[in-house]
Amino acid sequence: MVKRSLLVFPALVAIGLGSLLIHNTVYAKQEAQPKFAKNLQVLTFVKSKAELKGWMRMIKTSLGVDCDYCHNTNNFASDQKPPKRVARVMIKMLLQIRKDYFAFPNAPQPTCYTCHQGHKKPTNEPEGGFPKGND
Ligand code: HEC
Ligand code: HEC
Repeated sequence: MVKRSLLVFPALVAIGLGSLLIHNTVYAKQEAQPKFAKNLQVLTFVKSKAELKGWMRMIKTSLGVDCDYCHNTNNFASDQKPPKRVARVMIKMLLQIRKDYFAFPNAPQPTCYTCHQGHKKPTNEPEGGFPKGND
């Protein structure tokens, strides 16, 4: 009996710490959320639902997909679909490109379309590959 309770205590501490950790990672993000969204991690500067919709329309058109390619349309905040998780990295990349290389006056603003051109995956090579040799 003594042995058993000695094990129970550390186990309870571990569970307590574990759930605190989960609680913090899940809810720390949510505390900083605007009224119109629950799980924004990169579009955190977006000020309104309309602005968020503008981003989503740009993204969907750029890739030639519908919203459900990335979203469970019953729960847009869910990250269950892998393309949504990739898209988040892509949004970060796009914001960085704009900030680092297109911040000069009257700079064009690259979009997802700049690379994707209406496709799920951009083409990385011309058809038939790049020319070989010295030509
Ligand atoms: C290629 C993937 C992709 C497509 C297509 C897409 N979205 Fe999103 N959507 C995202 C990502 C990524 C986020 C989270 C952005 C972030 O973390 O800041 C998001 C966030 C959202 C949110 C906020 C959810 C919340 O509460 O956190 C809504 C609402 C939303 N999208 C609606 C739409 C609608 C409507 C469409 C179609 C017009 C659409 N999305 C198309 C990737 C996509
Ligand atoms: C600088 C070019 C570039 C830009 C800009 C870009 N992408 Fe991508 N994207 C790529 C490349 C390259 C791949 C990988 C394609 C492959 O697997 O062959 C990719 C892959 C993806 C994929 C995974 C597709 C799949 O089925 O595996 C998603 C989703 C995606 N991009 C979304 C976006 C979104 C959303 C944006 C705009 C916020 C964006 N991309 C902007 C280059 C870009």
